[in-house]
Amino acid sequence: MEALVAVILAAGKGTRMRSKLPKVLHKVGGKAMLQHVIDAAELAGCKEKVVIIGHEAELVEAMVAGQGKTALQAEQLGTGHAVMQAKEALAGFTGTAMILCGDTPLLDGEGLKKFYEAHKASGAAATVLTAIMDDPFGYGRIVRDEAGNVLGIVEQKDATEEQRAIKEINTGIYCLECPLMFEVLATLTCNNAQGEYYLTDVLEKLNAAGKKVGGVITQDSDMVMGINSRKQMAVAEAVMRERILDKLMDSGVTIMDPASTFIEASVKIGRDTIIYPYTWLEGSTEIGEDCEIGPNVRLTDVKVGKANHLQFLYGHECEVKNNVTAGPYIHLRPNTVIEDNVKIGNFVEVKNSNIGVGTKLPHLTYIGDSDIGSGVNMGCGCITVNYDGKKKHRTVVGDNAFVGCNTNLVAPVTVGANTYIGAGSTITKNVPEDALGIGRERQKNIEGWAKKYRESE
Ligand code: UD1
Ligand code: CA
Repeated sequence: MEALVAVILAAGKGTRMRSKLPKVLHKVGGKAMLQHVIDAAELAGCKEKVVIIGHEAELVEAMVAGQGKTALQAEQLGTGHAVMQAKEALAGFTGTAMILCGDTPLLDGEGLKKFYEAHKASGAAATVLTAIMDDPFGYGRIVRDEAGNVLGIVEQKDATEEQRAIKEINTGIYCLECPLMFEVLATLTCNNAQGEYYLTDVLEKLNAAGKKVGGVITQDSDMVMGINSRKQMAVAEAVMRERILDKLMDSGVTIMDPASTFIEASVKIGRDTIIYPYTWLEGSTEIGEDCEIGPNVRLTDVKVGKANHLQFLYGHECEVKNNVTAGPYIHLRPNTVIEDNVKIGNFVEVKNSNIGVGTKLPHLTYIGDSDIGSGVNMGCGCITVNYDGKKKHRTVVGDNAFVGCNTNLVAPVTVGANTYIGAGSTITKNVPEDALGIGRERQKNIEGWAKKYRESE
């Protein structure tokens, strides 16, 4: 085991969220708060992570699965009691345990790493990360002696008037040396205002035992922001959004209006791409260079190549290659691949289909379960009839086919390369290469009929 591990407290209920979901599973920036903390711990160099679970333990455990260990705290008897539950998971471990909380989604891995390095360099048995707050209400206060040594932490509810005036607070993040940490935890009592086993008491006990205790002040008070309510979650969301957009802009992406642009941390965007307002980019979405995305585009898990122009479009789990123009009012559904130089106009839906190079779907078209070749022109109102009420069937259209307006292609059906399909056709049989396929009632004109009708009584 490496010399740095994380113990992440996530057993609490999060009462003030008023939610069926455990607090730490609520998402900020598209990612569960606890996941942000696990990722920060990983970045900081914590090779093992022990997550303390309790409230809705199974749900939290499922999220942690594969990323670390969990330890159950069946009854929430306080933060000290919570850390004690990691004893078995860390049996035999010698090194530093970094204590984190699962509800601090803005944690920064680099910042934690610096904190760990400062702790190691000082040779202390325990170091607490602190912050200076204008309004320290609710937090534990850091009590120092005249020389600036940390004596201990006193909780809001246990503090004297004088102590409540202290503006240096406990962020709830610590580096504690093991196995000493577990030895001291075993001696905690719950003689305090809340009748809980306070982790914070560990510092005073270490001092009493003559061990070195330190405190490091962070300048980044956003990073240690703990979320207790949905209002605070919205504040964290805004901070995270700003961070993500700032990073993208610094990397060469134009964001026309950050206030109306929503991009998850996982999304990648190439240089000189412009993002117009009211755009949501989510999940594993990746966008290449020189694109214009938006206004009003939502992409979830979509791979987009270079030089594409997409507006008023919703795409999910699909791929758009290069130099494609699409929109407005487009729905690209899963398993769709749009090849280079395709033009998609307004009111078009494409599902589970491949659209070949340079093909045009200019207006009012539904393509489902189809392989459309390159250089194809699908006229206005073309529909693939892919569903017979029981099963889905595929439609194949060969290269350079010209499909007239308002055509129904009743699948399974193949339209050969270089064909013409007469407008208004309902094609139920395969059309061979180079043929004209036409499937509609022949037109009949009745001379004088209209005039006679108008003049009749
Ligand atoms: C704690 C600190 C306080 C600090 C503040 C920072 C103590 C006694 N106090 O107070 O000094 O300023 O955090 O936010 O530690 N948890 C469990 N099991 C429990 C109790 C808590 O897993 O039995 C978890 C909670 O889910 C939460 C975290 O520990 O993630 C902190 O607990 P909370 O009750 O919010 O502590 P605070 O009163 O905020
Ligand atoms: Ca708290």
